Amino acid sequence: MVDKKVITLSGQQTQIVLELGEYAEILHWGKKIGGELAGQTLSLSRPVPYGRLDTDVAMTLSPELGRGIFSSPGVEGHRDGQDWAPVFVIRQVEQGRNGVLIESDDCVAGLRLTTELLLDEHDVLQTRHTLTNIKTGVYQVNHLANTLPLPARAKELMTYYGRWVHEFQTVRQPLLQGGYQQENRRGRTSHEHYPALVVGTPHFDEMSGDVWGFHFAWSGNHRLRVDVKADGRRAMQAEVIYLPGEVALNEGESVTTPWLYASYSDMGLNDMSHHFHAHVRHVILPNDFKNKPRPIHLNTWEGIYFDHDPHYILSMAEQAAQMGVERFIIDDGWFKGRNGDKAGLGDWFLCEEKYPNGLQPIIERVNQLGMEFGLWFEPEMINKDSDLFRTHPDWLLAIEGYEQPTGRHQYVIDLQNDEAFHYLFERLDHFLSTYHIAYIKWDMNREVVQPAHFGRAAAHQQTVRYYQLVDKVRAEHPHVEIESCAAGGGRIDFEVLKRTHRFWPSDNNDALERQTIQRGMSYFFPPEVMGCHIGASHCHSTRRRHSIEFRGLTALFGHMGIELDPVKEEQAEKQGFERYIELHKMLRPLLHSGKTWRVPSDDDAHQIHAVVANDQSEAVVLIAQLAMPTNSLSGHFRLPGLAAEAIYRVTVLDKPSNYQEIVSYQPPWTESGCELSGAWCESVGLTMPILDAESAMLVRFERVPS
Ligand code: DGJ
Repeated sequence: MVDKKVITLSGQQTQIVLELGEYAEILHWGKKIGGELAGQTLSLSRPVPYGRLDTDVAMTLSPELGRGIFSSPGVEGHRDGQDWAPVFVIRQVEQGRNGVLIESDDCVAGLRLTTELLLDEHDVLQTRHTLTNIKTGVYQVNHLANTLPLPARAKELMTYYGRWVHEFQTVRQPLLQGGYQQENRRGRTSHEHYPALVVGTPHFDEMSGDVWGFHFAWSGNHRLRVDVKADGRRAMQAEVIYLPGEVALNEGESVTTPWLYASYSDMGLNDMSHHFHAHVRHVILPNDFKNKPRPIHLNTWEGIYFDHDPHYILSMAEQAAQMGVERFIIDDGWFKGRNGDKAGLGDWFLCEEKYPNGLQPIIERVNQLGMEFGLWFEPEMINKDSDLFRTHPDWLLAIEGYEQPTGRHQYVIDLQNDEAFHYLFERLDHFLSTYHIAYIKWDMNREVVQPAHFGRAAAHQQTVRYYQLVDKVRAEHPHVEIESCAAGGGRIDFEVLKRTHRFWPSDNNDALERQTIQRGMSYFFPPEVMGCHIGASHCHSTRRRHSIEFRGLTALFGHMGIELDPVKEEQAEKQGFERYIELHKMLRPLLHSGKTWRVPSDDDAHQIHAVVANDQSEAVVLIAQLAMPTNSLSGHFRLPGLAAEAIYRVTVLDKPSNYQEIVSYQPPWTESGCELSGAWCESVGLTMPILDAESAMLVRFERVPS
């Protein structure tokens, strides 16, 4: 019998109680208990029922078949058919201020498992494993998973689904026997299987319930499971899907899982998001531009697509600067052979027919106009109709002897090919060294079908090499900010965000659709990393039309930009862009630092979104009317997060132009404002106005000095 030791990891509100003996077992991951725990853990000893193994078997951080736990294993592999059911025994534990590193060995199988667990002051837990082969002979790794236990009261799930122009859709379902599983084999984070989910007590919602949120920080293939074991125990598991033969360890070699991030709250989804947002702001995001206000963008894509004329682009830039834009980005279409989406990818040389005088005069003028300059790249991709492919047909990520389907008429480059990797770096480096480029939009427009390097599976390494390419660019050009885009929201995760600064959540700029997409993304990401652009009134992806007010207010709640051709816009629209740019600039410090609240509404036809300042001095609330109100009167909205005793002046900052015309009488507070206590706002609330479907209103709360 091995002596057992209990250690704890503590955040602000949560605690992990870990028992360490032969193996590590999480006994409690939930509310912080404090005080002396010794002796109390006895209350958690399990009975041993008839009809099962004669001993109690723990649910460990890496379930082991050889120990008698019949769950999806933490490690699965073999050494030429041997050593396939490892059982690890702890040999060393190192406890730091807020984390623990546990080293366990299986001396028979010749494997070492190193487990890291960290719980930070934002209540975000992160964990990963490293598996090392410590014996002669190659160890073939089939699975290496991160596993975290959940209590039996975790009975409901919120998961994600989606597709191109329809990202971050959430769905609720009961967590029943058999559990839940999602697999992503698309070679990028994907629109379809965003790698996160939330498990909670029945009916958990924005304001209440125990919730455990999980985010797997990996931009490639993954599997997420929430298992309900036949004995009622539950666990969440996340792993990279390794393709056959992909991870083979020689003696002394290791493989490390991505980080699995997780957070518990006993106050529902808003509080869980506050943990993740704080963690993203203080831990995940690169440090370099933290104190810089995020500049308002104009991105050329939906304005001109591939139709580039430098004179015209300069007139767009002039207009953009007049409207208050702070960063001007030339999207796809600027390089050699790129007149449509069928050719040119790979040829990262300026198209001299389109830009006979080069990029320099454009960048200089953009800078003179007071804007930063940004440029689009899609480094990992290649068209067969390109000089690069004609010279290096062998650079394709493909399995020789097979055809593969194209995606947007393009193929992927094998980043494990050093020559290809260095070519791509050299091209990016050339542009970033030659010109004053402050920002790149790094796109990835197709899924990966045959990830092979010299015939061997290479999906995992392709993702690793992508990170290395971005890291190399950043190391060489630390002043350049990067946006992660993959046909909209196909590569959005914490691991990318460690080396980039912003995401393009969707190619869908329809304000109604964006309300749902941005809400889904808001569970794990703060607004400042969400690119939100005002598109043309006639939305390109849905063909719907929306007023400038609805489009402007929807784009306000992120990192704002404009995605259209300002030269062709009418005066009224231009005035609208100016107005929302100005509003965004005024509210930006609050929006990009405060706490996001998804405010519950009495009617699903509304969506209410608030940001409250960390010092509770002010708040801004967006009431979005998604569909026709269900009833004639829509009840009240109650705003959480303000200081209970303080008095707030409530004013409407923006409302639809037809606001008064659509009813006999709107709530008086929306006209003359009012003063309310924080407690009143939270518990009693304000009468909802009547709004047309697909319109919105912006309300400000300012603390009255006492
Ligand atoms: C997909 C991106 O999501 C768009 O914003 C745009 O950059 C195009 N690619 C360009 O090809």
